[in-house]
Amino acid sequence: MKNILLACIAAIICFVAVGQTSFIGINKAVDPFHYEIVKTKVFSKASVASAHPLASMVGAEIMKQGGNAFDAAIAVQLTLAVVYSNAGNIGGGGFLVGRKTNGQTIAIDYREEAPGQATRDMYLDKNGNAITNLSVNGHLASGVPGTIAGLFETYKYAKLPFKQLIQPAIDIAEFGYVITEREANSLNANKEAFIKNSTQITALVKDAKWKAGDTLIQKDLAETLKRIRDNGQKGFYEGKTAELIVEEMKRGNGIISLDDLKSYKAKTRTALQFKYKGYDIIGMPPPSSGGIIIWQMMKMIEDKPVASYGFNSTKAVQLMIETERRAYADRAEHLGDPDYYKVPLKTMISDAYIKNRMKDYDSTKASVSKNITAGIIKEHDETTHLSIIDKDGNMVSVTTTLNGGYGSKTVVGGAGFLLNNEMDDFSVKPGVANMYGAVGGEANSIQPGKRMLSSMTPTLVLKNNQPYIVCGTPGGTTIPTSVYQTLVNMLEFNMSPADAINSPKFHHQWLPDIVRVEKDFNPAVRKELTAMGYNIVEANGWCRLEVIKLLPKNASATLRVEVAADKRGDDSVAGY
Ligand code: DON
Repeated sequence: MKNILLACIAAIICFVAVGQTSFIGINKAVDPFHYEIVKTKVFSKASVASAHPLASMVGAEIMKQGGNAFDAAIAVQLTLAVVYSNAGNIGGGGFLVGRKTNGQTIAIDYREEAPGQATRDMYLDKNGNAITNLSVNGHLASGVPGTIAGLFETYKYAKLPFKQLIQPAIDIAEFGYVITEREANSLNANKEAFIKNSTQITALVKDAKWKAGDTLIQKDLAETLKRIRDNGQKGFYEGKTAELIVEEMKRGNGIISLDDLKSYKAKTRTALQFKYKGYDIIGMPPPSSGGIIIWQMMKMIEDKPVASYGFNSTKAVQLMIETERRAYADRAEHLGDPDYYKVPLKTMISDAYIKNRMKDYDSTKASVSKNITAGIIKEHDETTHLSIIDKDGNMVSVTTTLNGGYGSKTVVGGAGFLLNNEMDDFSVKPGVANMYGAVGGEANSIQPGKRMLSSMTPTLVLKNNQPYIVCGTPGGTTIPTSVYQTLVNMLEFNMSPADAINSPKFHHQWLPDIVRVEKDFNPAVRKELTAMGYNIVEANGWCRLEVIKLLPKNASATLRVEVAADKRGDDSVAGY
């Protein structure tokens, strides 16, 4: 107790005396010791929604200082790596979908990739059975991290000096911040896993139980962030940080090498863009499955009068479940890293193909997944999302992850950050489900340098070719269905962002052939779906959506934005 008190006093003195960031500190705009969760608000200029109040506030301040949405996206992700170690990260990867005011769309792929020494059967025992624990926990579970390369790729569209964007994260790591009850519980629940999977002491573990209001200081992480501040991308992928990663690998039988780190590059891809009833929907292409799944599902309902069915009516839900089933069957068979596997993209998003997928749809009963295999094509527990818009209408949607909560649970000794367990997103063996129950095959098999298939679905919507919605969520394979339902809630049922994200979600992913529903899902609809042959399973809330919606301008405002953060976590909005 005395130690904690001393740490708090030290942190306060440091902030007052040597805090580098003008707006971080006691009684400043972003006060890491006193902050509140704000779920929804209307702003007149710019806004951010993210998984943590401090990260959203940092993003808003960066935009107040003249930064644009891309500056804010960098600062928010770096802050999340400090204040939301569950999923915010520098040891993981992600995807960014952005749109500049001049209409340019941007898709950045900073997904992790398989290390050079990875092999197709690296998670199989000598009898060919999958040892899934190896792809989930510990050193062998990690792909080569992509986040820092992704942030520097994003920086090409930013305005402020990089040092200004990273300093808030450094200050909060160095001098600490107060944790919430949810975070205390989460750190306590993972204590044994951190100890088991890390080879050196980590700041995330302490003798006594964490409790709400404790201060978390991460000195090693602060030093790592300083190396990135001072040396750019090389501060992570080369030099001391890279050496610390490789030393950690050696202590734990991992395989990421100095060469793997040095050769990692973020990739700029072409965003997917399609029309839905006059709106433009912009999403991420492979190696994320998100953009294609959203495309297929939205197109499968486009010719139906969904609004007239009513929100969460049996008719609307049943239709949407059947679109989910069909899109996920395609995901399992046809999607993987396009640089290693010829993804039949053109066919998968063609109107004729999508229409044909719904040809056997029956509005009176459940289809059966084993009869709905993927279309025949002749061509060959955490992530986090942030939604941002700036005063000029630049929009950024980022989903980033370590994969499971705290990733591999391995903290890099001396560097203070967690590594991902993203190798589990590969298909470790055809037909063997990963931690989200997803199956896959050749398209998503392991190969050195290949990027594992993702469900992350950062999404933008335009109305009359103008910014309208920024949206996304964590949730593994449930991500595309949660984004889908949020878009339908807003575009068809005219819901506010808060109502659209907080309403109960349902999820079908082809296999297993069940419909997951959240606890507050309408019991009458559930009963009717059961009678139609659906196997309904109740589950805890799985998504944490962050949504920004543009409102009609009033006389004085350049923009008016309604922003909402999910009720299911500590997610919070900020803006000005
Ligand atoms: O890329 C993917 O699809 C997964 N690694 C995402 C993991 C995730 O969303 C976990 N969050 N709840």
